[in-house]
Amino acid sequence: MRCLLITGAAGFIGSHTSLVLLNAGYKLFLLDNFSNSSPIALERVGRLSNLSNEKVKERMTIVNGDIRDFSLLENIFLSAEKNGEKIISVFHFAGLKAVGESFEKAFDYWDNNVGGTIALLKAMEKYSCRSIVFSSSATVYGTKNNKALIETDPISPINPYGLTKATIEKMLANIAGCHSTRVAKQTSPRGWRIACLRYFNPAGAHPSGEIGENPKDIPNNLFPLINQVAIEKKESITIFGQDWPTPDGTGIRDYVHVMDIAEGHKAALDTLISSNPQLLIINLGSGEGTSVLDLIKIFKLSIGIDIPYRFGPRRNGDTAISLANPGEALKFIKWKAKRNIEEICRDSWNWQHQNPMGYK
Ligand code: NAD
Ligand code: UD1
Repeated sequence: MRCLLITGAAGFIGSHTSLVLLNAGYKLFLLDNFSNSSPIALERVGRLSNLSNEKVKERMTIVNGDIRDFSLLENIFLSAEKNGEKIISVFHFAGLKAVGESFEKAFDYWDNNVGGTIALLKAMEKYSCRSIVFSSSATVYGTKNNKALIETDPISPINPYGLTKATIEKMLANIAGCHSTRVAKQTSPRGWRIACLRYFNPAGAHPSGEIGENPKDIPNNLFPLINQVAIEKKESITIFGQDWPTPDGTGIRDYVHVMDIAEGHKAALDTLISSNPQLLIINLGSGEGTSVLDLIKIFKLSIGIDIPYRFGPRRNGDTAISLANPGEALKFIKWKAKRNIEEICRDSWNWQHQNPMGYK
């Protein structure tokens, strides 16, 4: 049976991707230290899958542990080998992701994100697993862009979090024997199969409302905040700036449904395993921009709930527009986002109102 190792599997994107991979017939080793997630997410992934309870038990091995623990990683590869199975690829979601926090806890970010990835790659090399799909971010592009971003654009992250992502991309390119992280597709002379997926703004939830985004602390991102206002946990939204060079003066982002992101991971794996060794660096975005004011209007039209707001100053480090050029994704992994912003609003609200306390 073909096995995959998923790090950070219980998190927002990891849980949705695990469901897609489970339904695609893989056996999964699901590793998470639950520092920003709950094991309940993985229970629900099993329930949502199209498998019987018995098959779920066979196909999902949940490991509570840390990616920096090399002997734990070894045990996972060894346990697959003992069953005569092989982990053919890793999906690497585990990491710390809060931009603001990354300034205060820079060492933790380097240790967890970069240190953790080094431990993971060493274990992969030792057990001859040379395929990895890595969670990168549009943050690697920096802020001075007002056009749709393409993979060949300059890399200039402005916060420790983004720097760890850009560093991991460079490390992966180096290990693959490739020279640049500004090319969408390169042959790997060292026999690695690697995809760095640069997510834009993942949002939404599984349409069942059973799994979704579960921020542990007070959220900073717009979607979870809008949902908190909608369930009356919060009174209003503060819009960061009304004088951006955009049609309505508020920031434009490329929101992409988490189920589209999850399917993008399967598309990347399908490409990697059916082609010669290569390094792919691919934007996962819809190519459609939505301003903060537009989003508030669309939320009202789709859900019927008014989101009170007031204007505040610009947030440090923000940019007017962050939009993907999704052309290389279509060309190289045959993926494009299928769900629109209305579905993102509907599904994120469905999750939020069914689970006002998240997984608690
Ligand atoms: P998340 O926090 O929900 O998921 C990350 C998971 O990794 C959590 O379950 C956490 O408990 C686990 N984890 C963290 N450190 C670990 C460690 N050392 N060992 C084992 N498990 C560990 O985040 P997410 O939104 O699902 O993001 C997944 C990945 O995608 C992250 O690497 C993030 O940086 C990246 N990313 C996310 C976004 C976004 O907007 N959500 C955007 C761009 C990139
Ligand atoms: C933020 C991170 C980015 C990360 C992404 C993950 C910063 C500076 N950037 O991006 O690195 O990859 O999350 O999804 O933190 N907004 C408001 N009021 C709010 C919150 C947000 O007006 O209370 C606006 C922002 O100014 C922006 C838009 O909403 O225009 C989206 O913000 P957010 O959801 O935080 O995402 P990004 O800023 O794109």
